[in-house]
Amino acid sequence: MALQPLPELVKQLITQPIIFIGGKGGVGKTTTAAALASYYASQQQKTLIVSTDPAHSLGDVLKVQLSNEKTAITPYLNAIELNPDTIVDAHFAQVERTIKSYANPDMMPKIREHLRLSKSAPGAQEAAMLESMCQHLVTAVDGNYEHIVFDTAPTGHTLRLLVLPEMMGAWTDGLLAQQRRQSKLRSVATRLDSHNQKHDAKKTEIANPFAQKKSDRWEQAVSVLEKRKQLFRQAGQLLHDRTQTAIVLVMTADMLPLAETKRAIEQLEDSKLTPAAIVVNQLISPTQFDEFWRLRADRQQQLMQEIERNFTNYPIYPIYLQQTDVRGTDALSNLLCPVT
Ligand SMILES: Nc1ncnc2c1ncn2[C@@H]1O[C@H](COP(=O)(O)OP(=O)(O)OP(=O)(O)O)[C@@H](O)[C@H]1O
Ligand SMILES: [Mg+2]
Repeated sequence: MALQPLPELVKQLITQPIIFIGGKGGVGKTTTAAALASYYASQQQKTLIVSTDPAHSLGDVLKVQLSNEKTAITPYLNAIELNPDTIVDAHFAQVERTIKSYANPDMMPKIREHLRLSKSAPGAQEAAMLESMCQHLVTAVDGNYEHIVFDTAPTGHTLRLLVLPEMMGAWTDGLLAQQRRQSKLRSVATRLDSHNQKHDAKKTEIANPFAQKKSDRWEQAVSVLEKRKQLFRQAGQLLHDRTQTAIVLVMTADMLPLAETKRAIEQLEDSKLTPAAIVVNQLISPTQFDEFWRLRADRQQQLMQEIERNFTNYPIYPIYLQQTDVRGTDALSNLLCPVT
């Protein structure tokens, strides 16, 4: 599709309430996400912007300190910065509360230790973050936001998150199927147990309270899994519904972002998640001649002084912007030590 004037972007996305902004690191995702959200809010359309990047860039761009709770930036703009550590802590605190309600109190120190270690297990943060994102997605759509903009972490990670609801749904299905098999076995065991009752009343007295607790526990576990499955299914459906969700890929006009954007589109299309638009950021306007560059260079030199003041304990090395991408070992080594 041809190049479009930028104001068309806000018109194109106006009917899709969910907007995901993806792209390679540093290309301008946060800037684009915050710009879209700010624009819609300025048009008095209730907008929520959600950042999944722990680097606090969204807060920096909006010039407000954000947290896991919604912050009202303007009457029409709310922002939230999902902090993986806080989310994981809250998630495991919930798990601990659930276990505590049925576990033997003597076991709790061991269980707590196990949960503490599980927090740093690979994928724990990602899973907790995904669940939290899906919750925000579903509740924001059910709530009365006209736009929900997700400012995501760099592409690879984002793509995994977008595909994960399906995977998590399948995974939860597996757990539930396993649970159903075990439940069948238990009902057979219970029948055998009641058969034994006629022969051994004392044994049954001991066995029954445990059976009761176990079935409670299973019911609890199943209900948690069912709820989670429902959440992922709903989020997955929203993500795949093009009338609801638009994925916008941001890139710069450079070779590496181009290659990554191509790969991202292939991956997204494989998962039936076609991007809605591509934003090419940081383009140099052909009308911006000497004066523009002089002002930009001056501004950078001012910032360089500030950088030197801030990092007095470290050596600082400047790399100047080149006319083209720097690729291949010769050009790369030449960047540091030019061959004279
Ligand atoms: N069009 C632009 N003109 C000038 N500066 C820009 C422009 N777009 C982005 N920047 C600046 O470039 C830097 C990176 O932008 P931004 O934080 O939006 O990228 P990002 O893709 O969100 O990065 P990350 O991958 O780290 O999340 C920021 O300092 C931002 O202010
Ligand atoms: Mg960012």
